[in-house]
Amino acid sequence: MGYTGHRPALDVVLDGLRRLEYRGYDSAGVAVLDGDGGLAVERKAGRLANLEARLDEVGRDTLTGGTGMGHTRWATHGAPIDRNSHPHRDTTGRTAVVHNGIIENFAQLRAELEADGVELASDTDSETAAHLVARIYDGDLAAAVRTVCRRLEGAFTLVVTHADEPDKVVAARRSSPLVVGVGVGETFLASDVAAFIEHTRDAVELGQDQVVTITKDGYEVTDFHGEPVVAKPFQVNWDLSAAEKGGHDYFMLKEIEEQPEALANTLRGHFADGRIVLDEQRLADQDLRDVDKVFVVACGTAYHSGLVAKYAIEHWTRLPVECELASEFRYRDPVLDRDTLVVAISQSGETADTLEAVRHAREQKARVLAICNTNGAQIPRESDAVLYTHAGPEIGVAATKTFLAQIAANYLVGLALAQARGTKYPDEVAREFHELEAMPAAVQHALGTVGQVRELARELADSKAILFLGRHVGFPVALEGALKLKELAYMHAEGFAAGELKHGPIALIEDQLPVVVVMPSPKGRAVLHSKLLSNISEIQARGARTIVIAEEGDDTVKPFADHLIEVPAVPTLLQPLVSSVPLQVLAAEIARSRGYDVDKPRNLAKSVTVE
Ligand code: G6P
Repeated sequence: MGYTGHRPALDVVLDGLRRLEYRGYDSAGVAVLDGDGGLAVERKAGRLANLEARLDEVGRDTLTGGTGMGHTRWATHGAPIDRNSHPHRDTTGRTAVVHNGIIENFAQLRAELEADGVELASDTDSETAAHLVARIYDGDLAAAVRTVCRRLEGAFTLVVTHADEPDKVVAARRSSPLVVGVGVGETFLASDVAAFIEHTRDAVELGQDQVVTITKDGYEVTDFHGEPVVAKPFQVNWDLSAAEKGGHDYFMLKEIEEQPEALANTLRGHFADGRIVLDEQRLADQDLRDVDKVFVVACGTAYHSGLVAKYAIEHWTRLPVECELASEFRYRDPVLDRDTLVVAISQSGETADTLEAVRHAREQKARVLAICNTNGAQIPRESDAVLYTHAGPEIGVAATKTFLAQIAANYLVGLALAQARGTKYPDEVAREFHELEAMPAAVQHALGTVGQVRELARELADSKAILFLGRHVGFPVALEGALKLKELAYMHAEGFAAGELKHGPIALIEDQLPVVVVMPSPKGRAVLHSKLLSNISEIQARGARTIVIAEEGDDTVKPFADHLIEVPAVPTLLQPLVSSVPLQVLAAEIARSRGYDVDKPRNLAKSVTVE
């Protein structure tokens, strides 16, 4: 984050960092320029609270001034210790830099600096940028930053200050996010609007390979060669309350409870004049009609939403659909051509693995449709069509409401394709859409399980491991349930296709091992339902403790369930929207019982902008 204006920069920057901490919490640091040639830096490994404790210890008087910047780190190069924390300075201490991303040619730059006698103080790639800027600085910070950026390879956002120019902050971006916030007599820079939403909703989005200089009166944008660029202003369409806990113990629980609203917002406006409409379509309808194969690419939770998409899109469009981890996709030479549609799903729209998969797909002439929760992020910018999930800001590192929103958006993509290709009649598309419209109420109903799941979580908190089973669309739900538990409760958890269990993983079953089973509807998929009952019998016979998520009124399942959690009956393809809810609560509440920070699980970050 960067700031210059009429307020004390330290306070503004610390408040901003608090709202950006979800992006990384390995260390935090600030730099403030006093206007008289002084540039003070404080930084500390660990969470922002450690930095604040350090500031209390050393006193905040040395950090007074109206220009400053700050950083929260998710470590890539160099351990998360004080010396590797940002901001980094050059040897004179007059230039300070914070950096997100990876400078890929840093080894070469480092060697060059060392050969010139520069002693580096950290193990990071980022520090090289501070020395490079300082060495060529001749009174024009923006010019120096542009020159350095032309030498850097990789993905980066840099924010730079210099003691000789105390009224400005300069920043640059390539493939990493950066937005400007425009206030009255003050200007902000941050990775995410959340950092300055308290002060202004007027924002400006920076494009690829651009440098911005902010002063208290405004901003100026150029490309890396100094050519002026007209940047695109936008209004942030949510306010501070969306980024606050609002009485909840932790953000994740608030976000779980916001899921009905998030789903409704994802669906809103996408059915008009009897047709499904996307947010942005830089593709002719004919291109959608010509699609003969679909790849869904994503990471983490978004990938699990993609696995659900496969069932829906294949069913509705009769197109073959492959769902692939974005980090694997481009390294295995997938068969892509102009009739391939790649659906890239990313909450942040900035995940480096997914972005690179998008770029690879476009190089191969495939069409790319992005599903994203962040307006104007890099992935939607580089895609041919976009569907925004409009789920609002998600602060908890583990995705919840955006997962459900992604699933709903996948359904819309499936219906849009079915409509374009004529595999569904308009009235069938309309009927499916209206079924989707009933889902926010169903999810609200599923939230009625929170109290019961919370109690169960307390009972399971000391388990060594928990397994999750499902079939058909219940399989991705099982995978996501296991992922949530690993992420939040640091408990060993695995999700399996229930039918596959007997081919190996059943060896893991031992007495009292908790196994969560996601049941399909007995009406919708009677055959699957009875097969799953057999699978439960197999594990019960071996002593497992069964926790069964089943449709309300499904009495046949009762003898198989040590704990029964009932969710409302909905059409089969839409079941993940309701059956995921108790699993999210289970993971969060087990984590809480074990004393962990639900919103900021160890080693993770919400946006991973490195490959
Ligand atoms: C990170 C987060 C995960 C998330 C994944 C994909 O690893 O910790 O929770 O699912 O990135 O994020 P995206 O923004 O692309 O959906």
